[in-house]
Amino acid sequence: MPTPDPSSPAPAGAEPRIPCHVAVIMDGNGRWAERRRRPRAVGHRAGARAVNTCIDFCLERGIGALTLFAFSSENWGRPEDEVGALMKLFLNALDREVEELHRRGVRVRFIGQRDRFGPALVQRMAAAETTTRDNTRLNLTIAASYGGQWDIAQAARSLARDVAAGRLDPDAIDEAMLGSRVCLADLPPPDLFIRTGGEQRISNFLLWQLAYTELWFTDALWPELDAATLQRALDDFASRERRYGLTGAQVAGRPQETSE
Ligand code: IPE
Ligand code: IPE
Ligand code: MG
Repeated sequence: MPTPDPSSPAPAGAEPRIPCHVAVIMDGNGRWAERRRRPRAVGHRAGARAVNTCIDFCLERGIGALTLFAFSSENWGRPEDEVGALMKLFLNALDREVEELHRRGVRVRFIGQRDRFGPALVQRMAAAETTTRDNTRLNLTIAASYGGQWDIAQAARSLARDVAAGRLDPDAIDEAMLGSRVCLADLPPPDLFIRTGGEQRISNFLLWQLAYTELWFTDALWPELDAATLQRALDDFASRERRYGLTGAQVAGRPQETSE
């Protein structure tokens, strides 16, 4: 994982700091539908529209990478009809949206245990990745059938294979090497994490990659997402001092008395 650059809050009058990479847990679709006495699948459909709001916002603000948690390893345990509705929705969304994303310069990729999906979805995912692979305006990653613990386990497995084959000395394994095998290793780690739906937890999202990410939570349910909510998250992010374990004076480049 690249070493983060400590940076202080923008001085008054300067351009606000924009996160390079935003990671989002899109939560609250089911409750949004239940409050309207509609089936949960209706909430997921409304949630798909909010995905476009979020992508538009990132494109407008020049945010270079967006990672969206669409379906967790644990979500496979939901009732069969809800999982089925979600699979149908993913398939339709891929058929409907990929051309337009490509036209807008978005590179689309997927992280997670892809072999758990059916062949039609696996084929659409691969096709979306191939079509958009040279785009550079926005790196959009969809985490689907993804778990942070699975991600760390697959990274460990890949190192173990190299050790077993005699290509790698176990003593050479450090944080940077493990970090180079987890998902998203080619992107800077997320600067800002956003979770809608009111819960304040990570729910097995990017456990490794979120080590120094700024966390932001809102009670707004995912289908209610609008640009004003995202702007509040960005404003809050711009006001924070990221210290990465250092002192405030170190980060600001100020001298500091450390002894009496
Ligand atoms: C997030 O919304 C979407 C997925 C997990 C697939 P939920 O479906 O978790 O909505 P709530 O949390 O039950 O309201
Ligand atoms: C996290 O939401 C997963 C996604 C949004 C895809 P959940 O609704 O599954 O999380 P919990 O169960 O509230 O922790
Ligand atoms: Mg939920």
